[in-house]
Amino acid sequence: MLVHLLKFQPSLPTLGLMLYLCHMLFFFFSTAELIQNGRLLTLPLEAGDLHSLLPDEDRRRLYVAMKDNLLSTSLDDITQNPRKLDCANFLRVLQPFNQTHLYVCGTGAFNPRCAFIATSIFHQAEYQTLSYSQTECGKGKCPYDPFQKTASAVVDGELYAGITSDFMSRDSAFFRSLGRRHVIRTEQYDSTWLQDAQFVRVAPLSETDNPEDDKVYVFFTERAQEAEGAAGKVLYSRVARVCKNDIGGQRSLVNKWSTFQKARMVCSVPGPDGLQTHFDQLPARVTTTAGPLDILNGSAVCVYRMEDVVRAFKGNFLHKEGPQYKWAEFTGKVPYPRPGTCPSSTYGSYSSTREYPDDVIFFSRTHPLLQEHVLPLGERPLLVRVGVHYKFSKLLVDRVEAVDGTYDVLFIGTDSGLVLKAIHLPREHGQSQEVTLEQLVCLSWPCTSVNCTARPARNAAWPGIRTAPGTDMPAVHICPPCAGRDERKSTLF
Ligand SMILES: *[C@@H]1O[C@H](CO)[C@@H](O)[C@H](O)[C@H]1NC(C)=O
Ligand SMILES: *[C@@H]1O[C@H](CO)[C@@H](O)[C@H](O)[C@H]1NC(C)=O
Ligand SMILES: *[C@@H]1O[C@H](CO)[C@@H](O)[C@H](O)[C@H]1NC(C)=O
Repeated sequence: MLVHLLKFQPSLPTLGLMLYLCHMLFFFFSTAELIQNGRLLTLPLEAGDLHSLLPDEDRRRLYVAMKDNLLSTSLDDITQNPRKLDCANFLRVLQPFNQTHLYVCGTGAFNPRCAFIATSIFHQAEYQTLSYSQTECGKGKCPYDPFQKTASAVVDGELYAGITSDFMSRDSAFFRSLGRRHVIRTEQYDSTWLQDAQFVRVAPLSETDNPEDDKVYVFFTERAQEAEGAAGKVLYSRVARVCKNDIGGQRSLVNKWSTFQKARMVCSVPGPDGLQTHFDQLPARVTTTAGPLDILNGSAVCVYRMEDVVRAFKGNFLHKEGPQYKWAEFTGKVPYPRPGTCPSSTYGSYSSTREYPDDVIFFSRTHPLLQEHVLPLGERPLLVRVGVHYKFSKLLVDRVEAVDGTYDVLFIGTDSGLVLKAIHLPREHGQSQEVTLEQLVCLSWPCTSVNCTARPARNAAWPGIRTAPGTDMPAVHICPPCAGRDERKSTLF
């Protein structure tokens, strides 16, 4: 019952349109009235493992990766019967590759396989089957176990994937594959690099005007080695990055990242006595962390500035002298060029990471962790929900230019089917403030049997937010705090 959020720009020049699809579809519910009103569109799928949604706005198609099937349906009318490609797999990677092809990977009964899929095949027949010979080895691209958290992105024709890459799911790794270059990955079974990482998101980001400095960031949660007295026991959320032009070292770190570095991302609420309540799991998106508190059920949204992330990577390194020692700031001499720097004309004369001096490569291998934490905007979460019966699972942010300024509209998916909507007015001087919070879509219970009326998706209470005429959000219902809900159903909250 996880809500999937999907954003796409409609062909009309509007402020953006949201479409929500729910894992568990609405077979149990009498939604006829809503469908008649044109406010709820249902994608006709069997309930099952739905992994990801990929909209192709140019061709107005929506691709859906599920267990055993890749589906394609019209974005303009998702109620049409989707076209199916049978892949006999838990699909776990679904990426746009180029103008004509998708790249798709599945776990294939503990034998990961991948394939380029021409989007044109969906015009040919309603139902097709992908044969084994059309697929290639998916090792290093897709996990063996479908229930491991995985994140991937195709960047310049190469696949960056955060996965567990072995049968037993012990080897958490960040890979680059698929291009002409040799496959490259994180150091294997080295807990200072990655330990039980649950990957959330991969995002390419440019730092300077020079593409040689471009980096790829990966967001994840892992068991922290540096946690005092609890090494490997507590979870921290992290951001790590690598240079796009990293090809590994010459004598050491051969075909391993030589620029891999990571830092802790903090999302916490300050309490009395200086104690912080930390939200340390990352099931959400790049700009947020969300996760349960230990005692209470709670989730939070934190907003980070990329400058703060970049600053953490310029700070001091953490260092551990030996197994008996604690992690502490590294106070010795950091070799040159500073580990983590991309080979580029901006910072020096190296044209490849294979030319880096041995001491740089050695330092990179032994010091992947930075000391500075990345703190959120305002040093506290934008939004916190505790003591509720759901957890945040997805976040979608729509930046809206309105008459009176720029708003960030947050749509937050939960594991109960509820969708929350919050409006954030970014303030000057780093101060930020949550403004409104509203419960939107209640996809997992029958709206018809509770006292809940579908209202227009646009809320008149927010002046300044315009929506162009004729562009109501097609699948959005506003279910105002529903009075008189029976107990059984309200437990879904
Ligand atoms: C897209 O990639 C596929 C697979 O490599 C290739 O066969 C196809 O020609 C490419 N299409 C374009 C338009 O480059
Ligand atoms: C916490 O949330 C889960 C669902 O995410 C629910 O099953 C459980 O009962 C909740 N626990 C408390 C203490 O609210
Ligand atoms: C629904 O709620 C309204 C206002 O809260 C109330 O007047 C009405 O009687 C309720 N209807 C039902 C069927 O509970």
